[in-house]
Amino acid sequence: MNTKEKEKYIEEFDFPHCDESTKYEKVAKIGQGTFGEVFKAKEKNSNKKFVAMKKVLMDNEKEGFPITALREIKILQLLKHENVVNLIEICRTRAAQYNRYRSTFYLVFDFCEHDLAGLLSNVNVKFSLGEIKKVMQQLLNGLYYIHSNKILHRDMKAANVLITKNGILKLADFGLARAFSANKNGQVNRYTNRVVTLWYRPPELLLGDRNYGPPVDLWGAGCIMAEMWTRSPIMQGNTEQQQLTLISQLCGSVTTEVWPGVENLELFNKMELPKGQKRKVKERLKPYVKDPFACDLLDKLLILDPSKRYDSDSALNHDFFWTDPMPCDLSKMLAQHTQSMFEYLAPPRRPGHMRHPHHPVPGGPAKPSSSMADSGYQDRVF
Ligand SMILES: Nc1ncnc2c1ncn2[C@@H]1O[C@H](COP(=O)(O)OP(=O)(O)O)[C@@H](O)[C@H]1O
Ligand SMILES: [Mg+2]
Repeated sequence: MNTKEKEKYIEEFDFPHCDESTKYEKVAKIGQGTFGEVFKAKEKNSNKKFVAMKKVLMDNEKEGFPITALREIKILQLLKHENVVNLIEICRTRAAQYNRYRSTFYLVFDFCEHDLAGLLSNVNVKFSLGEIKKVMQQLLNGLYYIHSNKILHRDMKAANVLITKNGILKLADFGLARAFSANKNGQVNRYTNRVVTLWYRPPELLLGDRNYGPPVDLWGAGCIMAEMWTRSPIMQGNTEQQQLTLISQLCGSVTTEVWPGVENLELFNKMELPKGQKRKVKERLKPYVKDPFACDLLDKLLILDPSKRYDSDSALNHDFFWTDPMPCDLSKMLAQHTQSMFEYLAPPRRPGHMRHPHHPVPGGPAKPSSSMADSGYQDRVF
């Protein structure tokens, strides 16, 4: 084939299961993650169905479809649950001269009106105790489902939790997710520990654990739960070391007494572990959280030793969800707000606030990130 023939072949190439993105009309940009842009769009043919389109960031130097996007798609195709974002399809732009014969691909999702970071950053959005219970119950149901399907999310944070106007919560952003397996006949896993946004990263990852599991997501669930009251992330470290220090100040010193086996983690002797810290989870969060059952559940999710940390099943059985006020529907409260709320569209919460603090880059450099150390924003200690 000569070049002209090749171009014609590419232009007319038929992808049987991959529609053209022209069937959607972009309405607004609603997200800018580390891995690409997200748009709200309307399906042209149907009556006003909205979708979210997440652009697949192409490895510029490399040929072919990025492996990380393939992994995300494979996982999303497996997961079908009310509390997990629904992937409708993958679509593409037509390869043509103007894009140098490279298609852009999009992941197309059912549109959700809000993300939790956007909701929490708006002071006019007030959650009652029953509504907070409903949020957490759905979040834990989602985690229970993905963990039962042997998938770890690995990027739990408020911006990755979507909420529809009907009050249905959806776990989103499976860009860092992976399948996991129980250690069979003594074989240990060697997963990367460069995952989870720093502020939501559990102590085992900060200490270099590479044989982790579902508890990493439950730590994030605990951080998000506290944030339902505090309205901003509870531990905002600038570096991995500082994050570990903040964790010790809230959850007590990391010792072999509270966490047998922690001494075997790769970074146990390399990181500085504050000594003599008392556990103060309940004491420190009580002024915000007030409800004693909520404080108790938080205390169980923010347990240092991952093997003792509550799993989603025990959390769902906690009295918090089974005492008055019972979990209650969010749609009435959300109906008072006619505007979508997303982290990307929210005004910065304070000077110097970074939207994506230390978003991990898989395969990125393994050095502790300290680029934010002098970005000049204050610590918030709850
Ligand atoms: N289905 C969706 N409906 C509405 N907003 C979405 C949807 N998916 C993603 N978003 C918005 O886009 C943001 C970025 O998408 P996400 O999947 O988290 O990608 P990234 O890996 O770039 O963080 C989310 O935080 C959310 O605000
Ligand atoms: Mg995200």
